[in-house]
Amino acid sequence: MSVTLKSPEDVAGMREAGRLGGELLDYLTPHVKAGVTTQEIDALAHDYMVNEQGTIPATLNYAPPGHTPYPASLCTSVNHVVCHGIPGDKKLKDGDIVNIDVTVIKNGYHGDTSRMFFVGKPSIQARRLVEVTYEAMWRGIRAVRPGAHLGDIGSAIQRFAESHGFSVVREFCGHGIGKQFHEEPQVLHYGRPGTGYKLQPGIVFTVEPMINAGRPGIRCLADGWTIVTADHSLSAQWEHTVLVTDDGYEIMTQSAGTPAPPPEPTLAQAS
Ligand code: MF3
Ligand code: CO
Ligand code: CO
Repeated sequence: MSVTLKSPEDVAGMREAGRLGGELLDYLTPHVKAGVTTQEIDALAHDYMVNEQGTIPATLNYAPPGHTPYPASLCTSVNHVVCHGIPGDKKLKDGDIVNIDVTVIKNGYHGDTSRMFFVGKPSIQARRLVEVTYEAMWRGIRAVRPGAHLGDIGSAIQRFAESHGFSVVREFCGHGIGKQFHEEPQVLHYGRPGTGYKLQPGIVFTVEPMINAGRPGIRCLADGWTIVTADHSLSAQWEHTVLVTDDGYEIMTQSAGTPAPPPEPTLAQAS
């Protein structure tokens, strides 16, 4: 399969699916607190998708080649879990950082977005990691425009994360998205400017950097899904689905509760 250009009808469908993904995270936000299990959050999400939104949880039973079917309606990745954490019966506790990654299907279109949450009061390092990862995602998104290359996005993310002493996970990337969950192109979160696929209006993909406080290496747990940092350092991730427009980008996964973008860097800070 190759990169697909979305029609105006596709874009409208992606906008709706994306907004519903954002609204699902808005709905879950007050429930992400100490004493709640990630399984309880999963159950709330499933119910909201199926009964309130009329959406389908794309992750439930999702089984890419070489994987067992994913058993839940979202991913919950706590502390040193990088991504694809399976909701379980462990309670969230004060000081945890958790990524909640949701993908909803509406009228055949996928909306894929994730945010970080603080449970109670985070450590100074955890707060910094989460904030730097958020700005790293935004530095990547702000590189999106027709004529830009995917390497521009990866490079912006990598430079910002590494300038803060953090590292970029290499094994997972952003992806094209539409009627399929994971489409071409692959959107690496590291790279060199001017390299890789050249963007044009109508392409939709995710930007979803995974940034580790320590080394970039990862390990997969015996459940076949949960990815953790090899050195047990903290890891953070944020994700938006983005459309390439005629003059830049449009965030598809925006909702009332989407956190504000970080301020645009001034020239003096730009490097
Ligand atoms: N939502 C993830 C992504 O951003 C994919 C999760 S697949 C699952 O691409 F099976 F682990 F849920
Ligand atoms: Co996702
Ligand atoms: Co994604």
